[in-house]
Amino acid sequence: MPDTLTITDNRTGQQYEVPIHDGTIRAMDLRAIKAGPDDFGLMTYDPALLNTAACRSRITYIDGEKGVLLYRGYPIEELAEQSDYLETAYLILFGELPTTAQLQQWKHEITLHTMLHENFKKFMDGFQYDAHPMGIVVSTVGAMSTFYNDAKQIFDPAIRRRQVHRLIAKVPSIAAYAYRHSIGRPYVYPDNDLSFTGNFLNMLFKMTELKYQPNPVLERALDVLFILHADHEQNCSTSTMRNVGSSHADPYSGLAAAAAALYGPLHGGANEMVLRMLHEVGSVQNVPAFIKKVKAGEGRLMGFGHRVYKSYDPRAKIIKRMADMVFTVTGKNPLLQIALELERIALEDEYFVSRKLYPNVDFYSGLIYQAMGFPTEMFPVLFGIARTSGWIAQWEEMLLDPDQKIARPRQIYVGHGVREYMPIANRKEAH
Ligand code: CMC
Repeated sequence: MPDTLTITDNRTGQQYEVPIHDGTIRAMDLRAIKAGPDDFGLMTYDPALLNTAACRSRITYIDGEKGVLLYRGYPIEELAEQSDYLETAYLILFGELPTTAQLQQWKHEITLHTMLHENFKKFMDGFQYDAHPMGIVVSTVGAMSTFYNDAKQIFDPAIRRRQVHRLIAKVPSIAAYAYRHSIGRPYVYPDNDLSFTGNFLNMLFKMTELKYQPNPVLERALDVLFILHADHEQNCSTSTMRNVGSSHADPYSGLAAAAAALYGPLHGGANEMVLRMLHEVGSVQNVPAFIKKVKAGEGRLMGFGHRVYKSYDPRAKIIKRMADMVFTVTGKNPLLQIALELERIALEDEYFVSRKLYPNVDFYSGLIYQAMGFPTEMFPVLFGIARTSGWIAQWEEMLLDPDQKIARPRQIYVGHGVREYMPIANRKEAH
């Protein structure tokens, strides 16, 4: 018996048989279902695409019910334990873990591309002294397309590979420049002796010392945080990257749009919001009153809940362990007690339990970032550095997928029918 779905249209009494592949039916197969000859055909209504697969992908697998996250088949826990960010980025981008020679070559290519054109400094200088670094990153990544005109040749694999190197290497440099600009310090050039993450810390925090030496515990912790954020299948920013890329825009324009999507408080801005929330709560004693407010619909418990994870977010577990490691170096973040109490109460409370709301990746990451010396404005920027590998991998997959076309959703029009133009003298205020 083939996998099919039989649909009876009760408007006409007609039956249709639609094939099922991979647990899905093709939405376009519904178009044949018509109430009459002039009918456009049936569509699905799916705001926010809650139940629509928009692509076939081999990159990241999530089982939200079981709390599973795999990159190219490898569990996130094993990668966080044994891999580093650049190796994980290679895996995400090219599908397999690299050999020693491949990894060396990859790291060499990335290191070669970490420097920014000096003109970047000029226009970054033009931002206000208090500009949000994420705003600077969004604009500057977009501006990269004007520096690398070859990037428009998106169907040339060698040219595409060059943009991959540039993006993975230069986004951290842009992020560091944005941070240095926001605190009025001179920009720091990359140090190629250091690791990917060590160099990033150097570009952020180097002062007058001749050579910056990253603390190995913090360097590793940040690297693991980058691994945890590297990809997360079809989330808001990744869908944006795919959508923009589907018009065959260059990858810098696509990545700027993806970063803009990440900027929002419901996505990459959430860990910034978690810290603001913890400050607002102020002390452990105020936690019950805060939870009461959330339950009354006055605001959300930031860092809780996830569109896909409905048992737990595996990244949150790893991060909670990492927090302990980081706090041995930096000292405990005083907000930790408030976070632990919020989590304790929420995990026992019927409101959160019945809605399957658990801590997500952002609940503890902000506390770690803050303890490491990052201002809250840098949190979404750090997320964006890590997610760059995922965005590019998903963009390339989309580009080479023969099923894909320019993204163009449908709508249900609920506005006025045709009406005559009203001369201004005859109009009344509508609202
Ligand atoms: N605090 C309180 N109530 C919540 C929360 C929360 N954080 N999240 C969801 N709910 C409630 C919501 O009010 C709704 O209740 P009801 O059914 O009574 O109306 C129910 O749970 C379902 O919520 P939803 O908005 O339909 O769920 P969603 O899948 O659309 O939202 C979410 C997912 C992540 C946007 C949401 O949980 C949220 O806003 N969380 C806080 C922001 C946050 O931490 N975002 C980071 C997400 S993880 C990082 C990333 O991947 O970007």
